[in-house]
Amino acid sequence: MRHLMSPLDLSIEELDDLLNLANDIEKNPQKYAHVCDGKKLATCFYEPSTRTRLSFEAAMLNLGGSVLGFSSADSSSASKGESVSDTMRVISCYADIAAIRHPKEGAALVASQKSLIPVINAGDGGHQHPTQTLTDLLTIRSLRGELGNLTIGLCGDLKFGRTVHSLINALIRYENVRFVLISPEELRVPDYIREDVLEKNHIPYEEVERLEYAMPNLDVLYMTRVQKERFFNEDDYIRMKDFYILNKEKMKLAKPDMLVLHPLPRVNEISVDVDDDPRAAYFKQAQYGVYVRMALILTLLRWKGDLTC
Ligand code: NCD
Repeated sequence: MRHLMSPLDLSIEELDDLLNLANDIEKNPQKYAHVCDGKKLATCFYEPSTRTRLSFEAAMLNLGGSVLGFSSADSSSASKGESVSDTMRVISCYADIAAIRHPKEGAALVASQKSLIPVINAGDGGHQHPTQTLTDLLTIRSLRGELGNLTIGLCGDLKFGRTVHSLINALIRYENVRFVLISPEELRVPDYIREDVLEKNHIPYEEVERLEYAMPNLDVLYMTRVQKERFFNEDDYIRMKDFYILNKEKMKLAKPDMLVLHPLPRVNEISVDVDDDPRAAYFKQAQYGVYVRMALILTLLRWKGDLTC
């Protein structure tokens, strides 16, 4: 039995198989409509979520399975003081697979240690968000044809943005990937990403503050929201929140085939006038999130020996 804590828990080959499966699900949804009949997914969300929780639930329903769970810490026994580990051990008796989101870094790992069912990290604090990364990889590969030979600009809150940390970790395994890290000084990527991930693996990257400067060279622009809930001080958040606003004007500086991605929710960082630009791929990306989560649920249940197909 395997869990998914980080995108690196999957080898490149396993990841390729997973993305191929997601593409097949997209093309032939009927083929998969009953593969999880009788199976249950538990969604254990200690932190707010729209897309991640609902796309997990939609994924399991699309596979013929059913879902149970909670959508805030207040509505679970965490409010009575129960540990994540005990909660997950118990949920293992009720469901076949679980997705957990928690504000604390490492909480999903702790939850997986006593679990009798596969556990998927659906976001642990500012640390990792592997299923968003699978979504991002599927989107890039489906729309560009490959994951290598790519200059990707990551823009916004690179300090607290867990989707950014997971995506960098995942993309360094492909050939000829360059990063342009676009952030204000105070929201630069954490040192461990710069030193232990990028420099240690000799990955080319530059850090810049101006989006306009980076735009013309990018194949993908990955915009992110300033992570209000992880700031210690409201004034700092207010000062930073509108640092970047991608609009129609700025899009004129980009390559004609550059993709704009965003894990969503968007606040102000992408103006709505960009939504109609054919390069805006963030709503498609949300759709890919369902296919990839279907592929992941199927794969983890197959590895556990729960499914014969
Ligand atoms: C992201 C997250 O939760 O980290 N959202 C998501 O899962 N699609 C990004 C964010 O909240 O800014």
